[in-house]
Amino acid sequence: MNLTIVGTGYVGLVTAVCFAEKGHNVTCVDVDEEKIEKLKHGVPTIFEEGLPELMKKNFGRINYTSDGKKAYTASNCVFICVGTPEKQDGSANLKFVWNVVKDLAATIKNNCVVVVKSTVPVGTNAKISKYLAEHKQIGAEFYVVSNPEFLSQGSAVHDTLHASRIVIGADDDYAKRQMEAVYQNFDVPKVFVNPQSAEMIKYASNDFLALKISYINEIANLCELVGADISDVAKGMGFDKRIGEKFLQAGVGYGGSCFPKDTKALHWMSAFYDKELKTIKAAIEVNEQQKLLLIKKARKYYDSFENLKIAVLGVTFKPGTDDLRDAPSLVSIPIFLDDGAEVNVYDPIGENNLKKILKNKITYCKTPQKALTNADLCFIFTEWAEIKNLKYADFALMKQVIIFDGRNCYDLHDVKKYPVIYESIGRKTINNLSDENV
Ligand code: UGA
Repeated sequence: MNLTIVGTGYVGLVTAVCFAEKGHNVTCVDVDEEKIEKLKHGVPTIFEEGLPELMKKNFGRINYTSDGKKAYTASNCVFICVGTPEKQDGSANLKFVWNVVKDLAATIKNNCVVVVKSTVPVGTNAKISKYLAEHKQIGAEFYVVSNPEFLSQGSAVHDTLHASRIVIGADDDYAKRQMEAVYQNFDVPKVFVNPQSAEMIKYASNDFLALKISYINEIANLCELVGADISDVAKGMGFDKRIGEKFLQAGVGYGGSCFPKDTKALHWMSAFYDKELKTIKAAIEVNEQQKLLLIKKARKYYDSFENLKIAVLGVTFKPGTDDLRDAPSLVSIPIFLDDGAEVNVYDPIGENNLKKILKNKITYCKTPQKALTNADLCFIFTEWAEIKNLKYADFALMKQVIIFDGRNCYDLHDVKKYPVIYESIGRKTINNLSDENV
């Protein structure tokens, strides 16, 4: 089939490359000409495992263009994969989606299946359908389908090719048949529902996971007070298949471009219908507090971070991505800087994106050892393998080894052998330094 993908972010580009891998001819459209130029030359614009290889392998089946109108007319289905960022009030900003819809209405003169992959509030597909019916050109027939995506950054290619399910929200038989043809070579369960249910499945899934994380984080915080260990507690819970072992990793809070935005959007939507989802509200509040937890822990030792040298290990919102959107590290680093600390940061691949935000306010280190040398305190925000594999000898480069680990990177049995202060999440504090050392 000839497919057009609008938006070449994580969702769009990965979807495009995976569709090409399955034998479709794909045209990628993006308004960002610089991005399109890079992609035309085979240069990936996002960091994703397996993406460069698949882009190269399927180069002949993927076109890249900033001329959307031309691409729309030549395809069977147009997939809308543009961003839906958060507005000030927490609702989703749909302006990029509507820009595409308006272009489609003005351009298409034949049958066109419009597939909405962007995460949009429940009811948006119906509004798009209505708009297209009212504004279409002579000869045009639009079929709008909701097809939310469930890929995670860092494993996006794998998640797309081996999806847990493909959700298709369509009212019309022609649209359903077209979607069956698109996904014919994907051997995964397909769930056909109405567009409103498809839109809701996306929010309800993401928000359930966010809720699970906030729940385990609250349990972790309580574990610290009652002498339980969250790693053991999560392990013990996870064996129960009704609970599951995934997304029970306590930490310094969830980040990224999805959970923070989608929890706020669903909460906004529920409040709009006068049916506030109290569980989601709680998940959001717990996460906001959790992001400040390492700072609170460190304040037990130092009232202020003034003149301290701070090593920050890991800044991206999770390992496997260079994405810093809503990363917990971005809450703490400005607090260190406001207090007057010197901040040395190491992240295996987040450096370029961090430079766009913090510019020359911090020092960027190519190795964790460089960041740790002569540091007074160390904060860990991302569980990169490069950070988890560090040894005591690396931390011994610090003036004194005081670590605030927001991702529980190290085994307490190992840590307690060394002269360190080690605070993690939901686990016992190891304090093997005498008070005079701190
Ligand atoms: C998330 C969902 O997992 C995808 O299914 C969904 O398609 C995607 O959002 C989206 O809406 O586009 P993603 O944002 O890439 O994917 O990241 P996750 O792996 O879900 O992690 C989100 C955050 O939760 C990270 O900050 C991570 O560190 C944190 N997390 C995750 C925990 O704190 N504990 C856990 O046990 C798991």
